[in-house]
Amino acid sequence: MRVLGIETSCDETGVALYDTDGGLLADALYSQVALHAEFGGVVPELASRDHTRKLLPLVDQVLADAQLTKHDLDAIAYTAGPGLVGALMVGACTAHGMARALDIPVLGVHHMEGHLLAPMLEETAPEFPFVALLVSGGHTQLVDVRGLGDYRLLGESVDDAAGEAFDKVAKMLELPYPGGPQVAALAERGRSERFRFPRPMTDRPGLDFSFSGLKTHTLTALRQLREQGALDDQARADVARAFEDAVVDTLIIKCRRALKESGRTRLVVAGGVSANRRLRETLDIALARLGARAFYPRGRFCTDNGAMIAYAGAQRLIAGQRSDAIQPRPRWPLAELTPPPAPRAV
Ligand code: KG4
Ligand code: ZN
Repeated sequence: MRVLGIETSCDETGVALYDTDGGLLADALYSQVALHAEFGGVVPELASRDHTRKLLPLVDQVLADAQLTKHDLDAIAYTAGPGLVGALMVGACTAHGMARALDIPVLGVHHMEGHLLAPMLEETAPEFPFVALLVSGGHTQLVDVRGLGDYRLLGESVDDAAGEAFDKVAKMLELPYPGGPQVAALAERGRSERFRFPRPMTDRPGLDFSFSGLKTHTLTALRQLREQGALDDQARADVARAFEDAVVDTLIIKCRRALKESGRTRLVVAGGVSANRRLRETLDIALARLGARAFYPRGRFCTDNGAMIAYAGAQRLIAGQRSDAIQPRPRWPLAELTPPPAPRAV
């Protein structure tokens, strides 16, 4: 089954073509980063308009790259939520319109299920069951994944998401949007021994996270350095490093705890923050000590992309799941998902 995947939940227009027999055939991404940069964050109305401009040309590009036409498509999957309602609407309307015209099935996919399954596109894909750490701009969640659509929330952030904290700290450091990769690059030049920031909520049991206190701690540290006239380039890099180390350590402590409590030996790490190099390196070492292993998507599939939506959609479409209505879901808890219907007997 050849499935076209469409992602338009936030500020990236992603399109990909996944074949359940041949794997990923093509993918293309248009990032709106430059469009939103001057506002320091995503402007929803501008995002929707830009998706409208870019989506169909990207569909054409992906089909051309795969040397196929739209008549070779067997189904379409799109992100139905969570995300910005206008942006989601662009993908949903385009997907339903194309599917109606081509007389093929269409399915709305959960964005975080897409992230969670993205490592399945890699050569060494994880087998079920596993624990997933979902770390993006909007979510920080630990999920016990028993199978497709069988998700149990183990813990989540009670305030800011990890990516959001990176983005806010980037603003404090006057780095451009989106801040995560910028803070990570600055931290490369930072020294880990100069400051030690708190590891929030690690001193008590449980698997929830909180990053807002760490954010305030970072702001206070920067303010003090500024008042002392000591906020030079090295100090900014040292603060970025202290912040990154604190986030990475906190995530790792909770991942280890989740693996121990659930008895799982595989950890999937996905979402934008899973691109963070220090997180990956430190986690790999920590998990090896536990006899466990982490699985990540390739770099460009950590952040939003069409391939993860095509893949996740294909797993459900092949089982017969369909969406009859255009119904974006800006808020949509992952735990509400259920496994696809059992394959019908022939
Ligand atoms: O998954 P994603 O593309 O979008 C959402 O679904 O939210 O994640 C974007 C988030 C942003 O907050 C961005 O700053 C963060 O991922 N991010 C990073 C890195 N690359 C992206 N954070 C830390 N280190 C990185 N290398
Ligand atoms: Zn995302």
